[in-house]
Amino acid sequence: MGHLKSLFTLLFFFIITTSLAVTFAGKIPAVIVFGDSTVDAGNNNYIPTVARSNFEPYGRDFDGGKPTGRFCNGKIATDFMSEAIGLKPTIPAYLDPSYNISDFATGVTFASAATGYDNATSDVLSVLPLWKQLEYYKEYQTKLEAYQGKDQATETITNSLYLISIGTNDFLENYFAFPGRSSQYSVDLYQDFLAGIAKDFVKKLHGLGARKISLGGLPPMGCMPLERATNLDLLLDLF
Ligand SMILES: *[C@@H]1O[C@H](CO)[C@@H](O)[C@H](O)[C@H]1NC(C)=O
Ligand SMILES: *[C@@H]1O[C@H](CO)[C@@H](O)[C@H](O)[C@H]1NC(C)=O
Repeated sequence: MGHLKSLFTLLFFFIITTSLAVTFAGKIPAVIVFGDSTVDAGNNNYIPTVARSNFEPYGRDFDGGKPTGRFCNGKIATDFMSEAIGLKPTIPAYLDPSYNISDFATGVTFASAATGYDNATSDVLSVLPLWKQLEYYKEYQTKLEAYQGKDQATETITNSLYLISIGTNDFLENYFAFPGRSSQYSVDLYQDFLAGIAKDFVKKLHGLGARKISLGGLPPMGCMPLERATNLDLLLDLF
């Protein structure tokens, strides 16, 4: 079941990416990203947290073999999506001082590894909460307007593709790791709580002018390396 679901997710991503490439090439001015380690391109390098990946072997398949702060051996999904629609081959991290608004005007990520929908999740490793990512996005809009002028900035904001990938850490790093939320909520009620935050976030983003918004669902979390390592005993029992 889990495998089938991942296969569907992959297939879905592929179809989306291919059809985006065909349909929207040249029409999407920027890809704007919010979320966690699945889509962080190095923001956490610039905040005081241990949730970092700016060391080897991360990045060994990245251009120049450089560990950028992506939690990956190479490019992450959002980089491929940006490239597929004819934009930059990689999406820069907003907090990286080697980039400025002229780079961010065609794509930017506000994502922060180890964060979640729940403020209590981002507190665990002192990373950027989702609300803070939205605050940075507002700041970005102001800079964009100064850089492109009001009319073009409005066009960029309206026609850009917004990708949101977040939520597994609310369970892995928070709900199932600490007694706090799990003593307050059942799993079902916690899901409702998170969905409420997701809804509120999308409404706020829409209110700020975003129109093409993709909110990703959660992958099968038990298969993630973190979980497999944590549940090593359980895994060894199988053999
Ligand atoms: C952005 O950085 C580039 C390269 O360092 C520089 O040429 C450009 O003037 C900067 N643009 C803005 C708007 O600051
Ligand atoms: C998360 O924290 C921010 C900033 O303090 C606050 O505005 C927001 O309401 C909090 N979210 C929830 C769901 O409590």
